[in-house]
Parts: sequence; structure tokens; C-alpha cells
Amino acid sequence: MVNKESKKKKIKSKANQETILSVKDLQTHFETKWGLIKAVDGVSFDLKKGETLAVVGESGSGKSVTSLSIMQLVPSPPGHIVGGEINFESENLLKKSDREMQSIRGSKIAMILQDPMTALNPVFKISDQVGETLNIHKKLKGKKLYNSIIEMLKKVNIPDPEERMKDYPHQLSGGMRQRVVGAIGVSCSPTILIADEPTTSLDATIQAQYLRLLKDLQDEFGMAILFITHDFGIVAKMCDRVAVMYAGRIVEIGEVREIFNNPRHPYTQGLIKSVPSMDEDIDRLYSIPGQPPALWDVPDGCRFSPRKETSCCDECVNNKYEMVEVEDGHWVDGCKCCQNICSSQKSKK
Ligand SMILES: Nc1ncnc2c1ncn2[C@@H]1O[C@H](COP(=O)(O)OP(=O)(O)OP(=O)(O)O)[C@@H](O)[C@H]1O
Ligand SMILES: [Mg+2]
Repeated sequence: MVNKESKKKKIKSKANQETILSVKDLQTHFETKWGLIKAVDGVSFDLKKGETLAVVGESGSGKSVTSLSIMQLVPSPPGHIVGGEINFESENLLKKSDREMQSIRGSKIAMILQDPMTALNPVFKISDQVGETLNIHKKLKGKKLYNSIIEMLKKVNIPDPEERMKDYPHQLSGGMRQRVVGAIGVSCSPTILIADEPTTSLDATIQAQYLRLLKDLQDEFGMAILFITHDFGIVAKMCDRVAVMYAGRIVEIGEVREIFNNPRHPYTQGLIKSVPSMDEDIDRLYSIPGQPPALWDVPDGCRFSPRKETSCCDECVNNKYEMVEVEDGHWVDGCKCCQNICSSQKSKK
């Protein structure tokens, strides 16, 4: 009980923290032979100092493209950020030059990329890759640089770091590579860490240690984390708020407890229902029926309608709608039918 109360207080105090990143109506498109893919289509959210915001959603919903857009690392062509604002330290990052972004990346905003094999350069040793960020941003050289590389590798539990730092990425296991990428991400104690599924290839013990390290850094430096994950256990344990993405948009955002206890959008409800429970005796695991819409052919209005048990009305499917705040800090992007407040909702035949 005491724990629950103190957790509540902690969340409340984070809610009052200053906003350090504000993403407004972000739109990132890809020009492909199938047409224009609206991978991120009007995403808005705030990130507060010291908080952890989880981003969840099916594969292809736009989680990685959102984070790459913040870092301005979207492969171009075919990708282009075509609209919106990314405000950090009272400046719009989208107006910064490449040179200015280079000094922000890695030091103030760092990212742990989703795939450690592509994040690491195969022709450079681990020491060069961990050392590069420390050298560029902290100006470390010689013995100081060597010691810091070892310290970072120790922090992420790489055994025998003096030897492993001489290896090339292909000589490490998948889990070790992921930890090296994690070490690079946190090496300069950034203000914001974007972690794109940073623990998928770690075993449970190493995962717990790595999450503890992130929490410690957060407590020490007030680092904010944008944590992209498919693991609802991590969301519950580690995150303050959660944003649910579907087909290029955030459909629901709010405090973790509120979203888990009171999900309003049918997609969020489906995602939570899909998490297997040890207590239930079931023959078949639940999965949300159907597929997300093709991102080059999304309707103007409700994107989730074809996957619902009850169809949305024509007005909801064809017309744009705004995100609404249904509880304090709990926002839903669902159409009126999805929120069960539409008088014209029809039943599926
Ligand atoms: N280089 C690219 N060229 C064309 N389309 C792309 C490219 N990168 C991403 N996309 C499009 O953007 C959409 C969103 O991709 P993104 O990588 O953000 O998904 P995700 O939510 O991170 O999925 P996952 O959980 O599998 O990592 C994809 O469905 C794809 O259509
Ligand atoms: Mg991804």
C-alpha cells in the first residue's frame, strides 16, 4: 500500500515536471513504387524531464520512424519529414542544420537503434565505436578514453571488457552487441534517450540489470526515456506513461496505470487482451482480428474500423477527428464509434 502510494506520488511529481521534448503533428512520408506511405501521420506528444514514456503498437505502426524523425535519421530518399515540429530546448529541431544536429545527437539526445547488427559498423572494433561518442562529445583521449570505454562496457555487464573491446561486432553474441549499443547510447548521459526495443535479445537476468542501469541513470541525471517496446511487462514495471500507436498515429496516450485499467480505444483494449495471463485457463490466445491498413491507402477518418467487431458509421470512417482528453492526462484519438459515443454506430453483418 505504501509502495502504491509512493509510486502514485512519483508519477504525479513527474507529471508536473517541465516538458523537454514536444512533438507536434509530425508527418514523415516515404515515396515508394506502391505510392506515398504515410508512416507517421500527425503524431503529437510531450516528454517530461526524468519520465519514461513507452511507445507500443503492432509492427509497422510507425514507432521506429517516429524516433528516427526526432533524430533526423530517416533514410532520405525515400523518406521525408513533411510537416510538424520537434521542439527541444525551446527550438524546433527540424530547423537545425546537419552540423547542429550532429552536436545534439549522442550528447543531448541519444538513440539505441532497434537492430544492434546494423547499428554497429562491422569493420570497426568495439573500442572505436564506444570511444567515438566519448571522444567527440566529451573530448576524452588516451588513458582517460580507454578507462571510460572499459567503465561503460562494465556498466552494461560485458564480461572481460579489456579483451572484448578489441573484438569486431561479429565476434560478439547478439545479446552482447545489444549491450554495446546500449553502452554507446548512455555513454554521454544524454538528456533524452530513445531506446528502440533495447532489450529484445537479452536474457531475463541481463535485461533486468540493463533496465536497472537505465533507471539509475535516470535518477542520477534526470534523463527522459522514450522506450519503444512490445513487452507490456516492461511497460508496467519501467514506464510512467504509454503511447499506443496504430497505422502511423498515436491512438491513445496516458499514465500506464490509467491506460491498463481504463483503455478507451478498441485497439488498446485488443492489445491488452492479447497479453497472455497465467491465471486464465484458455485454449486459444487472443489476437486482434485482421491487419492494419496499407499505409499508402488509409481512410481520412477511422483506420481501425475494419478490425472491430462492430463497424464504425460512414461519417466516422470518412471524416477526420481530433484527439480528445477523456480523463486528466488521458487522450484518445478514436472516432466517436470507437469510443462508443456515436449514435449512428452499426452492427457488423
Ligand atoms: N526505408 C523505408 N522505405 C519505405 N517505407 C518504409 C521505410 N522505413 C519504414 N517504412 C514504412 O514505415 C512503416 C513504419 O515503420 P516502422 O519501422 O516505424 O515500424 P515499427 O512500428 O517500428 O515496427 P516494428 O515493431 O516492426 O519495429 C512501415 O510499415 C513501412 O511501410
Ligand atoms: Mg521498429
